[in-house]
Amino acid sequence: MSTNEELIGRADVNDIEAILAIAAEDGEENVRAVKDNADAIFTWDYEKGRRPALNKLYEKAKHSQWNGETDLDWSIDVDPMEMVIMQRQAFGQTEETRKAQTAGTPFEKWSDKEFDQLGLESNNWMLSQFMHGEQGALICTAKIVETVPWIDAKYYAATQVMDEARHVEVFAKYLDTKLDGHYPLNVHLGLLLDDIIGDSRWDMTYLGMQIMVEGLALAAFGLMHMTTPEPLLKQLLRYVMSDEARHVAFGVLTLKEYYEELTLPEIRERQEFAFEAAVRMRDRLLQQEVMARMGIDTKEAIKFVMEDEGRQLFQQMLFSKIVPNCKKLGLLDAGDGWLRTKFQELGVIQFEDLTDTSDEYEAFALGEAELSESATA
Ligand SMILES: [Fe+2]
Ligand SMILES: [Fe+2]
Repeated sequence: MSTNEELIGRADVNDIEAILAIAAEDGEENVRAVKDNADAIFTWDYEKGRRPALNKLYEKAKHSQWNGETDLDWSIDVDPMEMVIMQRQAFGQTEETRKAQTAGTPFEKWSDKEFDQLGLESNNWMLSQFMHGEQGALICTAKIVETVPWIDAKYYAATQVMDEARHVEVFAKYLDTKLDGHYPLNVHLGLLLDDIIGDSRWDMTYLGMQIMVEGLALAAFGLMHMTTPEPLLKQLLRYVMSDEARHVAFGVLTLKEYYEELTLPEIRERQEFAFEAAVRMRDRLLQQEVMARMGIDTKEAIKFVMEDEGRQLFQQMLFSKIVPNCKKLGLLDAGDGWLRTKFQELGVIQFEDLTDTSDEYEAFALGEAELSESATA
């Protein structure tokens, strides 16, 4: 039985020093090599539609392609500072609420200038991590094409590769042409992507990427779509979410079938993997690279961030897709209910009875008018 120490390298999930001890990689390398230990699998069973739900998803995906260059309105001007100001208004933040919140913290002495800069950095950081996560998804779904033994799943995954290429493209274009510069890959997100890519078992790619990373992304994009006042970003997120909902469904449908064949000890390994991924994703949300760039005492700043109630609520909301999907897959309660206990420890178990994402993609689908002419012609 693995302990927290063995799984995530620390006994207490909230141990700030341990979280920060994982240092960013230095250097300006333009590539990052990760060892992929999986076999590429050919199948000679070409019967299309043996798995009707996956076949339906594949047909849906073929009809739902959009073009990041022509379907989004890139003529919209974005003023990054205006965006920060509007975000504050959307969240009801005023100078008074800020003063009350930051009293006695390392942020206490900051002037408007520093808070403005923090707002700009924070948006750059978040969209940069989305962009890197999208590249992770691009690589992971290419890996699924190679490793999954079912033809219907290979077909579907191939459409997802195209979707993810489009997502990387539009986030990169938004950052490059509308905001100012990229942040490097967050260390915790990097560790998670390494674990997913390095695992030799084909279903682990799905669990790490489709269920955990994309489940979190779907919730995060949804929250951001709801709250961002910036019309181009809103449109971009709307389009990306229509694909992401399908991707999460692909994970749920595939693993639901596959997990039925697994033994309890094998399921336990999946539970542990899900917990480890959940912790890595929560750690990455702390924005430690932003604090470092702002020259503030990172440990004290992170402590404040972790204890802030609004922030905690936001972080918990990001697990609103992951937890019901883990429940649907039987991971929450299998064996002695180990994952349930762990999600309680992380404070996210309250989402277990929300709708899972196995067919929610229908509700997220783009309308005919939103799809590019090339896709519908
Ligand atoms: Fe994506
Ligand atoms: Fe995706």
